[in-house]
Amino acid sequence: MKKIIDKLYNENNLSDKELLTLLNNLNEENKNYLFEKSYMTRMKSYGNTVFLRGLIEVSNFCKKDCMYCGIRNSNKNANRYRLTEEELINCCIRGYSLGYRTFVMQGGEDAYFTDEILCRVIRTIKGKFEDCAITLSLGERSRDSYKTLYDAGADRYLLRHETATREIYESVHPNMSFENRRQCLNDLKEIGYQTGAGFLIGLPNQTNEDFVKDLRFIKELKPEMVGIGPFIPQKDTPMGHLENGNVEIVLVMLSIVRLLLPEVLLPATTALGTLDPEGREKGFRVGANVIMPNLSPFENRKKYSLYDGKKFVQDESAEELKNIIKKIDSVGFNAVMNRGDNIIWKRK
Ligand code: 5AD
Repeated sequence: MKKIIDKLYNENNLSDKELLTLLNNLNEENKNYLFEKSYMTRMKSYGNTVFLRGLIEVSNFCKKDCMYCGIRNSNKNANRYRLTEEELINCCIRGYSLGYRTFVMQGGEDAYFTDEILCRVIRTIKGKFEDCAITLSLGERSRDSYKTLYDAGADRYLLRHETATREIYESVHPNMSFENRRQCLNDLKEIGYQTGAGFLIGLPNQTNEDFVKDLRFIKELKPEMVGIGPFIPQKDTPMGHLENGNVEIVLVMLSIVRLLLPEVLLPATTALGTLDPEGREKGFRVGANVIMPNLSPFENRKKYSLYDGKKFVQDESAEELKNIIKKIDSVGFNAVMNRGDNIIWKRK
């Protein structure tokens, strides 16, 4: 197994068969060897830096009905909200004064957020703060819309592929198209965005064969960012009775993605930190190098409840931010708040 891991480290690739062999034969010893190699790779690409991004949850209205997600359209218990343009801009102003230089605007697929509104927000923020990056995470839109938002100044777009196995994708995404999701990701890449794909760990019937497909998809797409997190049940969804995704598998996937794409920006996700109080720090040790603290207005945070157990009382204040930075630095990393672009990306 060490030979396969060395090959992955040296060549940043493996065949599907080798990936499957690796996943099927991981024990404590070779897992630690894999983690060592992915740690070395992150050190070569970005050193011990951990980039901070301010996350703004803009709306929990969503027209989609993903079976796992707490803000799915059919969830009548979700208490819906959306930020006004003014609230959204004020979030960025507060974030900027705290030191953030990336703002991630994330939300459900809410028709209220037309290109016109989003372009106005993007231009306002870019006009005020030209040293900031804007990341959007607003689901599937048309290629035209993605292009319009890019031309208005958006730099990055997060859209997880969720799973690269068609049968699983279709079973948890009613009335959604497996092809369209992938098409969106191709469009985003082509337009010039730093593009984020990613997948869930712990979907029903997911096996190592499925993870090999996720890893291959990522190796071929070459996204600049990859979000990988455990599934966590949300009680008002059809998947509310299922078990949590496995934290160890998340760590293994983070480390393999780091090795497949050495320059990738890889968040230690909120979901990972929810299942394991040390989850995020464990993530940094296996190659994660991004963290996205919440900048949303306090009163809305509870409502943006994708899964149960998400921590609501986080940062906001300068004091809390200091604690986040202190914690990252205390485990041997270096929290920074600059734009933190992917080192091989240039705006088209
Ligand atoms: N558990 C973990 N992650 C979830 N997401 C949505 N619902 C859940 C859940 N129950 C993730 C999806 C989506 C991202 C914004 O949040 O992968 O892409």
